[in-house]
Amino acid sequence: MTKRTKLIAGNWKMNNGSAETREFFSKLETWLASDEIGKKAAEAVRSGDIEIAVAPVFTSIHAAVAARQSELVGISAQNAYFEPNGAFTGEIALQMLEEAGCKYVILGHSERRHVFGESDDLLQKKLAAALSSNLLPIFCVGELLSDRESGRTNDVIKTQLSCAWQNADSEAVGERAVIAYEPVWAIGTGKTASLGDAQNACAFIRELTAECFGIKTAEKIRILYGGSVKAENSAGILAQKDVDGLLIGGASVEAESFARIIATAV
Ligand code: PGA
Repeated sequence: MTKRTKLIAGNWKMNNGSAETREFFSKLETWLASDEIGKKAAEAVRSGDIEIAVAPVFTSIHAAVAARQSELVGISAQNAYFEPNGAFTGEIALQMLEEAGCKYVILGHSERRHVFGESDDLLQKKLAAALSSNLLPIFCVGELLSDRESGRTNDVIKTQLSCAWQNADSEAVGERAVIAYEPVWAIGTGKTASLGDAQNACAFIRELTAECFGIKTAEKIRILYGGSVKAENSAGILAQKDVDGLLIGGASVEAESFARIIATAV
């Protein structure tokens, strides 16, 4: 069976300016270097068992890169545009993020879809561009509460994903794409999907990937769960067969709480 490295990624959303980012890295890296469990986590990163990442706001990316003492924690952006440059006021290109030191980029987060109106069509372009850049896209899908209540969870995931996969290269998907299943009703609400629901949705995403790109690609792709993850529920979620990591919002903003979640992954 293909080994999939677990990814524990923090999405800070619009939190942590430069000073807070420096403080976060100082605390997290001290934990990784000197706490017993922290050292175990650092070893797990070095041996390829887990990856750790955080996604600061754009203006804190530089502070994060400069504050890092090691490469144990990868840096992600929270969004990007698909064009490499041009007259797109307020947008930022994948190549610029890479140059700034990012390794990952979150695309299609539910707040981008539902607060800022990003469509499946736009997100398909962003994903295709990210897959041909050097960044690893963390592409988010997930249903609204009304979809879940009307039994449409799988339909929504299928629509979002099949649109996203158009024009995506199979090899790049297997090597670099990460999908995050984030039920919208579980984001920032304190409500988590049941372990069974998280597993079923992630298994369904793997099945869809297999239909589209074949079984080998489906076995390689990493699928994360996100939505009110905290240290109290992370171990159970991570133990699910098709869950390859976590995308954590609120509980990743402070180093202590993020470290407690990382501790449950090692
Ligand atoms: P949350 O957010 O952990 O605060 O629910 C998750 C996310 O939006 O990625």
